[in-house]
Amino acid sequence: MRPIPESVSKTFYIETFGCQMNVHDSEKVRGLLEQRGYSRVKSADEAGLVLYNTCSIRDKAERKVFARLSQIKRRSAGKTVGVLGCVAQHNGAEIFERAPHVDFVCGSASYNALPGILDRVEAGESRVAGLELDTDETFDVPRVDRVRAYTAYITIIEGCDKACTYCVVPFTRGPERSRSSASVMREAAHLQELGYTEITLLGQTVNSYSDPSPAGWSFARLLDEIGRLPRIRRVRFTTSHPSDFTPDIVEAIDRNESLCDWVHLPVQSGSTSVLRAMRRTYSRDDYMRCVAMIKAAARRIELSTDIIVGFPGETESDFQQTLGLLDEVEYASVFSFKYSARKGTVAAGMPQIPEAVKGRRLIELQQRQREIQIRRNAELIGRTEEVLVEGWRKRFGQWIGRTTQNRVLNFADPEGLATGRDLRGTYCQARVTAAGPNSLVGELASPSARAAFQGLRVLQ
Ligand code: 5AD
Ligand code: SF4
Repeated sequence: MRPIPESVSKTFYIETFGCQMNVHDSEKVRGLLEQRGYSRVKSADEAGLVLYNTCSIRDKAERKVFARLSQIKRRSAGKTVGVLGCVAQHNGAEIFERAPHVDFVCGSASYNALPGILDRVEAGESRVAGLELDTDETFDVPRVDRVRAYTAYITIIEGCDKACTYCVVPFTRGPERSRSSASVMREAAHLQELGYTEITLLGQTVNSYSDPSPAGWSFARLLDEIGRLPRIRRVRFTTSHPSDFTPDIVEAIDRNESLCDWVHLPVQSGSTSVLRAMRRTYSRDDYMRCVAMIKAAARRIELSTDIIVGFPGETESDFQQTLGLLDEVEYASVFSFKYSARKGTVAAGMPQIPEAVKGRRLIELQQRQREIQIRRNAELIGRTEEVLVEGWRKRFGQWIGRTTQNRVLNFADPEGLATGRDLRGTYCQARVTAAGPNSLVGELASPSARAAFQGLRVLQ
């Protein structure tokens, strides 16, 4: 047992790796720690309690966590170090062997156990583990310390019941559990009261949502109801699974202006035989039918996707089919990855593709998609778009905004600069004047009424 020095014990620093689910989990952990009297500091050096919320989706992400742990080792005298998230859930108590200075681990499906773990750690215990797959969580947490004041995540479904052969998520986050519609609506209404105007519904397979309460709402109904909250201006949801993308979701978007014109729909591969080996539960044709249905919506809905190259058995012709799919769908953006074998998954036992082949395919795919984005973004020059302003790029003197279609649109506000007008959290009209592969540049057409009212906060 190692007593924690009182002077540093109540400060914490948390670093987050991985997806939005992890980002949001960290917001909940921050809320919990603040409730227990901890205060957040800006660096691991200043903190008494150092936490890493980890990701194990690919080997690179996992290695990054262990690199961080060996860095902190040299500076960890007097500090308490905790590993949270998917690496904790996946590697469990093995972490104590690889990184003996770690005091506790708490897996991504075990957050209910965190207060009890902290009790023990605060009492000076070390090597405390919370790794039970806890499927009874209530989803309702008393306090969440959100990163931003105008856009918020809400978890509506945890875990995953699909069984993609490359993926660790069903092991790290456990089976699928949906949250009751009443609980989701309570949180959404509360966020609205706090002034949030954009909500992103989260889940590994968000559109597989199925209300466990007697109300029995579908995912589309939930979208409808949240979209109807008067001061919620934008609703997003991620990540969708193509097999559960039903027509009523598109109908809900058609009906309701506040549902954003953007769907993230991971395809993973353009080849039906690879999709079968991945156990994705749809063929290329099924996927393209889903895309056609989304594209037939009243408003133009933009699509983004995830793609894995170099999955075991992927031939050159399979890969060409994926490239062809990029041309057909014309995604607004693509997240692409080299296949990474993960311990305990079916695909890890299949014959692997050489690293050099994976690397070449990834570069080729990214190049192809870059050209599509350059062309498609250039078509937007001259258009005026509404953006929610998310930040300020000091170096460029530009506001960072995001359109309903999830494109980044940066713009200057020379007039506002003189008055120090802070546009963060406001909705502005911006005219697109230039376009690159990954973002647009524009000029302010009109700030919203709220920006004018907010007025004179001086920019740092
Ligand atoms: N290797 C590479 N990419 C993976 N993903 C999930 N598991 C793996 C893996 N083992 C990708 C998928 C998923 C995204 C979140 O990460 O494309 O949609
Ligand atoms: Fe992983 Fe597949 Fe579940 Fe997505 S749907 S979390 S890729 S198992």
